[in-house]
Amino acid sequence: MSKTIKKIGVLTSGGDSPGMNAAIRAVVRTCAYHHIECIGIYRGYQGMIEGDFKEMGPRSVNNIVNKGGTILKSARSKEFMTPEGRKKAHQNLITAGIDGLVVIGGDGSFTGAEVFNSEYGFPVMGIPGTIDNDIYGTSFTLGYDTALNTVIEVIDKIRDTASSHNRLFFVEVMGRDAGHIALNAGIGAGAEEILIPEENLGLERLLDSLKKSKASGKSSSIVVIAEGDKIGKNVFELKDYVEANLPEYDVRVSVLGHMQRGGSPSCFDRVLASRLGVKAVESLLEGKSNYMVGLSGDKINLTPLEHAIKNHTEIDRELLRVSEIMST
Ligand code: F6P
Repeated sequence: MSKTIKKIGVLTSGGDSPGMNAAIRAVVRTCAYHHIECIGIYRGYQGMIEGDFKEMGPRSVNNIVNKGGTILKSARSKEFMTPEGRKKAHQNLITAGIDGLVVIGGDGSFTGAEVFNSEYGFPVMGIPGTIDNDIYGTSFTLGYDTALNTVIEVIDKIRDTASSHNRLFFVEVMGRDAGHIALNAGIGAGAEEILIPEENLGLERLLDSLKKSKASGKSSSIVVIAEGDKIGKNVFELKDYVEANLPEYDVRVSVLGHMQRGGSPSCFDRVLASRLGVKAVESLLEGKSNYMVGLSGDKINLTPLEHAIKNHTEIDRELLRVSEIMST
């Protein structure tokens, strides 16, 4: 390891996700392992601009591997989108003697890191932290596995009441503009239909599918819909539309919202966070910069930040086919 880097800053940015604390812990402890200092930066880039820093030693991250959220808080910073904001941030890093940065967040956070590096040549590494799983270059983003398990647990509960009252439930899940949570949790929870932005089912096909479900003897149904779906009606308008066209259905709506962002991270997310944190710090120590650490197969890899930002993750067509067959 070439140790030109002597002090690493770590921050969390954008929508929080389970596993961020485990990643912070991994960054702090890897720094301690290599006898370099680590500085926690509160509230993402806004805290960098305000100099909201805290020295972090290995004991400062005790008992957080299993905690949702982020002890460093997170924020979206409009000021960091300005050259003046980034200049203040850079001055604070220099004053604090920080010479490398680990950014835990989504593609918006990585865009900020990329611009910051291009302006100041400041070494940065990205760790993909978002429940959406919509970042190119990794098969799993931190928090995605935990969010999936949260969603199927809730849908299992909804199915209890749906079957007791012979009802159809529309369940809206997060994902901003990606359907990964909806598709995978929908399959896992045995949803009769899954509506995702990547595949516009269309209103007529939805009605046909619901008619077939009823005709096949299904007394209750669950339709999982991604919040970014493009069917043209929101989940409440869909309820009205189905009730108007299929009066035999008694329809209800559940919008899961921010509960999907919380909870104790799954073992998968804790282990992934630990692996990514080690790789991010050791890559900086090797003199690397401008990469996102990620998972490819079962190996930890590096993707240029520019690619992680500019490309997007495709929906798995085979998984789409599985979901269609499972709703027979
Ligand atoms: O990007 C993660 C995410 O949870 C999205 O799934 C969701 O659309 C968005 O953040 C919500 O943002 P906020 O927390 O600002 O309401």
